Amino acid sequence: MNAPKTFNLAEEMQEQLPADLLDFIKQAGEAAQKRQQRLYLVGGVVRDLLLERKIVDLDIVVEGDAIRLAREMARRYKAKITVHSRFGTANLLWGKRSVDFTTARAETYEKPGALPAVKPGTISDDLARRDFSVNAMAIELNPPHFGELIDPHTGRRDLKKQAIRVLHDNSFIDDATRIWRAVRYEQRLGFRIILATTRLLKRDIDYLSTVSGDRIRHELELVLEEEEPENILKRAGKLGVLKELHPSLKGDDWLAETFALARERCLPDEPHPHLYLALLAYRLTATETEQLIRYLRLTKTTAQLVRDTSAIKEKIRELSAPGLAPSTVYEYLHGYSLTALTANALGAASATAAEHIDLYLNVLRHVNPALSGDDLIKLGVPQGPKIKEVLQALRAARLDGLLDSKEEEVEMVREWGKNPP
Ligand code: CTP
Repeated sequence: MNAPKTFNLAEEMQEQLPADLLDFIKQAGEAAQKRQQRLYLVGGVVRDLLLERKIVDLDIVVEGDAIRLAREMARRYKAKITVHSRFGTANLLWGKRSVDFTTARAETYEKPGALPAVKPGTISDDLARRDFSVNAMAIELNPPHFGELIDPHTGRRDLKKQAIRVLHDNSFIDDATRIWRAVRYEQRLGFRIILATTRLLKRDIDYLSTVSGDRIRHELELVLEEEEPENILKRAGKLGVLKELHPSLKGDDWLAETFALARERCLPDEPHPHLYLALLAYRLTATETEQLIRYLRLTKTTAQLVRDTSAIKEKIRELSAPGLAPSTVYEYLHGYSLTALTANALGAASATAAEHIDLYLNVLRHVNPALSGDDLIKLGVPQGPKIKEVLQALRAARLDGLLDSKEEEVEMVREWGKNPP
């Protein structure tokens, strides 16, 4: 029988990997060879090499003790190493680089949604436990076979067909976060989840409820870090996945348009994922917002952002009144996070309200009295809450154009001394 034809990617690696990473994996391959271990590049990096997409981080799998090899490489590169002995993994960080070392493993899922039981295995075991064929390829790094593609699940063929395909019928049951991952890769790469996988995905949607809120939140964060998250949310809506986050969430044209506006507004930077989150939750009621916060176990800061967004939305009607005094706009909006305000500037149905929010963001929030608390004490204002009151009144007068110099402020404070406002 003929040996299976090998496909070597050494040239692609030479061309596409940054020189320092290429050097790193060559050295790691040689170090592994000396230890009589086999070493592989796996997962997303293999997929992205074949697609000629940008490579950021590396995932390396070792048949054998990954941690010892990782320690050796960390010494050579003076990298910061973080070891998880329980999982046989180590992460190396140096400069802008991050490389994960993992011991090749076989996994069994004892119950849906739980983390898998893990035992050491071969590269074949390791690839067989993965999510999609396009993510289940490896490249050997040991010198005699450097660059050889290992593709037992025909991932390369699926890349050519632009297909997202699970490796077996229980994949989504084993790990329902793969439902979100399928949609994310499909939309990121412009691929299609093949029909059989779509059927399994729909069949297994209920298993999302077996996954902890923390893991679901992590998936949502990854979605919101993508270039155009609205496409993923729209598709998730169509597949019935989005409603598992909250039944009132919608991946519709409004969301797509508002996300696109958010991108325009944030140029030259990308919108922060928190802004997308605030917009995703924008149309929920206050009660629904609380449900989402609880389900996703949002951190205190993120929860506050979503609550702020909702609280500002409650004031949109007042903010829609034309010709509001700047000090009134300030009163309505101060104290909220900038992201929550921006979400409302983008999401508000009323153009006047949006203009008021923009006025606050661009101008009003920067307005401060020239006098300080100490100045007020020198001017005879009694210490205590009165100081804050006078400072607020001075700011309001400045906002409304009633004064615009320190002298005028002094005059006004003296006047108030005689006739309190
Ligand atoms: N993986 C999996 N099932 C999951 C998560 C990850 O099988 N639920 C596997 C996949 O083989 C994936 C690899 O672990 O390629 C690494 O996961 P991750 O870092 O999340 O993804 P990448 O493929 O590196 O893709 P990305 O470009 O999104 O970082």
